[in-house]
Amino acid sequence: MDHFLYRDGRLMAEDVELAAIARQVGTPVYVYSAATLTRHFRLFDEALDGLDHLVCFAMKSLSNLAVLKLLGDLGAGMDVVSGGEYARARAAGIAPGRIVFSGVGKTRAEMAAALTGGIRQFNVESVPELMALSEVAAGLERTAPIALRVNPDVDAGTHEKIATGRRHDKFGVPIARARDIYAQAARLPGIAVVGIDVHIGSQLTSLAPFEAAYLKVADLTRALRADGHDIRRLDLGGGLGIPYARDNAAPPVPLDYGALIRRTVGDLGCEIEIEPGRLIAGNAGVLVSEVLYLKEESGLRWVILDAAMNDLVRPAMYGAHHDIVPLTQSAPGAEGIVADVVGPVCESGDTFARGRPLPPLAQGDLVALRSAGAYAAVMASEYNSRPLVPEVLVQGDQFAVIRARPTIDEMLARDTIPAWL
Ligand code: LLP
Repeated sequence: MDHFLYRDGRLMAEDVELAAIARQVGTPVYVYSAATLTRHFRLFDEALDGLDHLVCFAMKSLSNLAVLKLLGDLGAGMDVVSGGEYARARAAGIAPGRIVFSGVGKTRAEMAAALTGGIRQFNVESVPELMALSEVAAGLERTAPIALRVNPDVDAGTHEKIATGRRHDKFGVPIARARDIYAQAARLPGIAVVGIDVHIGSQLTSLAPFEAAYLKVADLTRALRADGHDIRRLDLGGGLGIPYARDNAAPPVPLDYGALIRRTVGDLGCEIEIEPGRLIAGNAGVLVSEVLYLKEESGLRWVILDAAMNDLVRPAMYGAHHDIVPLTQSAPGAEGIVADVVGPVCESGDTFARGRPLPPLAQGDLVALRSAGAYAAVMASEYNSRPLVPEVLVQGDQFAVIRARPTIDEMLARDTIPAWL
């Protein structure tokens, strides 16, 4: 459920008309709903009620400082994957003890920054990374709390590019090797083993792969404890999917996911961390865009928007579906169109939808691409020298620009022409 609903035929973000934001800020523009972000965070928090837990928002999905502050104030921790994300989390006021550092390729500089600034735990993904972290921590006379990310060899049944828990995926260490590596970790200076980490993929629409992975983690917890390790924390990753198309069957909800967690690892007395991103942010955002042209030739029809693949890359990159709806509802019974919805970028991949049934649209109409809160603004680029899309946060009847659209001059100012040219 989200807070982008029609009222008197006009699409609202909570109590603000999206068209009013478009008029004031221009298009394309990303708009987020604070009430939706709050609701989705709480669904996870409540699903784990009674268990010692921390919901660490996977901020790679949406990392605007205002959003991080909002979630942090609700009690969220953060899952970060770079020095930049770590700095963002801290700038948004997230306490170091609520930040976990994930990712297969942390640099020594990133490790040092997190060790110096404070960190809840590093999720370590390989033996060489473990060695580097030990050296960096010992060199700084600090101790790095670690969980080893294990690869359970479970197929998450999701898009090839976002499945992460199969043996040939680059993530984690094979679970069968975990006991050896934990033994090694326990002997290293600057390293303190605190738990186990797993994350098998994103946009999962079934709980079965989670169950398979978590049962393996439960077995490993018992084995490692028997080996003498103090396993007190389990980081179960993120990955729960969202409905992208309104008419599709909805994926399992956080409450069911919470019940699964209790069933599989709830009796181990571990503190539970989860790292949801998409389910919190995905349906909390829309991308508002203007119809520039309607083009019809040889029986083909294109709706050309002012938003493009550089602004929202998911359709081009993953063949992802995003619902596209008008900001003003058409009259009941009005005859719709079927069209390809595309952007202005100079490649055919710049297509948001093919053969999409749409309501009647005219030049100058505004539309919203839905489910554009997660992996949307954060994955934008300036390809074709198109300025990054601004971001707006709505709360009730108020809204604020939380990232301004850069001017063309600001973009050009980042380049330097060397004196010798
Ligand atoms: N934890 C780790 C270690 C992750 O790698 C990810 C996502 C998450 C948590 C959050 O997963 P979520 O709850 O959001 O599914 N750009 C792609 C998605 C990439 C996901 C990367 N990792 C997309 O647009 O579909």
